[in-house]
This record gives sequence, C-alpha cells and structure tokens, in this order.
Amino acid sequence: KRVVLAYSGGLDTSVILKWLQTTYGCEVVTFTADLGQGEELEPARKKAEMLGIKPEHIFIEDVREEFVSDYVFPMFRANAVYEGQYLLGTSIARPLIAKKQIEIARKVGADAVSHGATGKGNDQVRFELSYYALEPDIKIIAPWREWNLASRTRLLEFAESHQIPIAKDKRGEAPFSVDANLLHSSSEGKVLEDPAQEAPEMVYMRTISPEDAPDKATYITIDFEKGDPVAIDGEKMSPATLLTKLNALGRENGIGRLDLVENRFVGMKSRGVYETPGGTILLVAHRGIESITLDRGAAHLKDEIMPRYAELIYNGFWFSPEREMLQALIDKSQELVTGQVRVKLYKGNVDVVGRESPYSLYNQDLVTFEEGAVAYDHRDAQGFIKLNALRLRTLANRNKLTGG
Ligand code: ARG
Ligand code: SIN
Repeated sequence: KRVVLAYSGGLDTSVILKWLQTTYGCEVVTFTADLGQGEELEPARKKAEMLGIKPEHIFIEDVREEFVSDYVFPMFRANAVYEGQYLLGTSIARPLIAKKQIEIARKVGADAVSHGATGKGNDQVRFELSYYALEPDIKIIAPWREWNLASRTRLLEFAESHQIPIAKDKRGEAPFSVDANLLHSSSEGKVLEDPAQEAPEMVYMRTISPEDAPDKATYITIDFEKGDPVAIDGEKMSPATLLTKLNALGRENGIGRLDLVENRFVGMKSRGVYETPGGTILLVAHRGIESITLDRGAAHLKDEIMPRYAELIYNGFWFSPEREMLQALIDKSQELVTGQVRVKLYKGNVDVVGRESPYSLYNQDLVTFEEGAVAYDHRDAQGFIKLNALRLRTLANRNKLTGG
C-alpha cells in the first residue's frame, strides 16, 4: 500500500509521515508544493529522506505560476469575498494541492492520499472533496481524525521516540496556527481564540502596521487584459511575479489586514487574522477597471452570483459543475475588461484614482452637465420617471383611502 502525503516538512506533517509508516505500515510518498509560502523546500527533501522516504518518492514542485494563473486570477475575476470580507486565500490553494496529490498517486500507483488538516475545520473538506471529485475511489487517511496525538505533549513524545527532529521554537506550544501562500497568510487559534481580544501585533507577518506606513502615498498603475492583471507601472510580468510585486507594495503600505469571525462549513464560528496585501490591491483595482468596461446589467448580475461563487470555493467545491458554470459566466463577462487603473496606496488604504480603457462605456458626452449630447434627450426622462412612478402613485392613492 502506498499513500501520497501533502508534506510541508514541518513537525506536524513529519509526525504524520512516521505515523502512516508505523500505524498503517504503508509506503509514504511525499508531495511538497511551493505555493509562495516563503519557506525553503530543500529542507523538506532532506527531512523526508531522513525519515526513510525513497528519493524517487519525494516530489517537490514550484506551483506558484499555476496557483496564480489557474486559481487566484480566475477567482479575482469574480471579485470573490466570503461573508463580505475574506479573500479566500487558504480556500483557493487546497484544490491545487489535492489535484497534484492525485496526479502523483496515479504516477506512483498509490491507492491512498493523506493530509494534515484537523477534523474540525474547512480544510479537510476542501482536500477531500477535491480528491473524490478527481479520483472517486481514492482512499483518504486523515490522521488528525484518527490518532490519539491531539495534545502537544503526546505529539512531541511521538516525535522524540521516532527520532523526528524538533526545532527549538517548536518545543513549546505554538502561539497560533498559520497557513500561508502567495495570496495570503492566515492565523487562527490559541492567542486568537477570544474574539473580544485584539490580535497582538506579532501575529502579523507580511504587512507593516498602517500606523508605521509611510506618510506619503504610493501611486501605481495596473494594466488589465480580459479581467486579469498583466503589468504594473507599464512593466509586463508573469502572474506570480505580479502578485509578488503587489504583495511588496501592500506590505510597505500596511494594506490587507483583516480580523474576522467567520462561519466554517462544518458549522462552528472561528476567528482568524488574515493578511492579503497584494490581493486587496488587486480586488479594488479590478473593480476599478470593471466600473468603466462592464455594462450595468452584466456588473450587477456578477455581483449577485458572487456570494454563491465565493461560498462554493470556501466550502471546497472548486471541482464541481456549479462552480464551473459560474466560472463560465464570469469569464464571459471579462472579455473586454481591459485597460489601466491608477491606484493610490496610503496607510492601509487602497483607492482607485484613475481608470481608462479602449472599451470604456463611460461617455463623457452623455454624463456632462453641459449641453450637447444627442443620444440623451432630457424630455425622455420625464416619461421614464412618470411610468416608473405609476405603481407608487397608485399605492399612494389607495393609502389615502385606507388611511395607510
Ligand atoms: N479560516 C480560513 C479558511 O477556512 C483559514 C484556515 C487555515 N488557517 C490556519 N491558520 N490553519 O479558509
Ligand atoms: C484545520 O482545522 O486544519 C485548519 C482550519 C480549517 O481547516 O478551517
């Protein structure tokens, strides 16, 4: 029996690796992805080798470009936010990791996959729905739901007795749980568990605080093509490079911090602290270019389906027909979302200050208060308002009769 484990190289997944070997007696194949989490991957290889994984069973892949171009950008075309605020940084990464694990399972002839998500959260759902959607009969091993190592002490004991190295700073209880990738960092649990208490500054790892940000605003332009950003200040960049650059600009200006209590799919509320510097800039800029290139009907329909689309991603249904159907609708809307947005970054804020497009629907002739437009006749407005008022006037007349 062979199992493909989503392996970070950290303590928890190293314990899982050993536990799979000892409890299930299976051969473990590791998959470590560079999603832009900002950690070196070679140490993960060393560690896997040390834990007895054959070199040909250690898979390490830089998936940053794929992550941004095939997952993050399609999601941003929809302006997706969960419960009004969360930019879905963790949610959107899980389907990609799951897909890679399934591909590797096929390659090495593994019949099972495994992940390090707990039995209380969203991530287990996202991983496993994705596995099943891609490989209906795959076996799934979720150690956190099975083992008796839930306490830190037992976990450390297990690690020690199996010669798993424990970094000095990992001996104590971790102060909170972190998930990071190119789009965001998320922190949950422990010191963050009481939602009445402000998060300590040390939780923030990829933005400076708005109070410490420069007193002078930073201006940038972002070019969009068919709804996706392609250049910053006129310089073309690959998707992952562009998001990395936006992250740096966001970091320096204290942009993209969020302290949120959200509803998990499994039914409980949880409190999280998020940092999505580049994504926060991108969302505002994308809405800026849409504001001149999308027709009102198209824009409002997009906005109506957005919460549904965001919920599908949050709940782990990336690989579902309904997500794909909504994606087709969203992608269709982006055909002429092309042009340039000028954005001002200042102490935690992102403001659109200019937008232009060869396909702009904004018509200065129509909107101007000066005389001259031919397509718009003021007299038409009178009848337009009168007909729209018809039902309101009828109701008002009835109210007079009924005293309502
Ligand atoms: N609550 C976020 C989500 O469900 C993040 C979950 C993972 N974060 C973490 N710190 N372990 O998408
Ligand atoms: C976890 O429980 O593994 C992380 C949090 C979540 O999945 O919601």
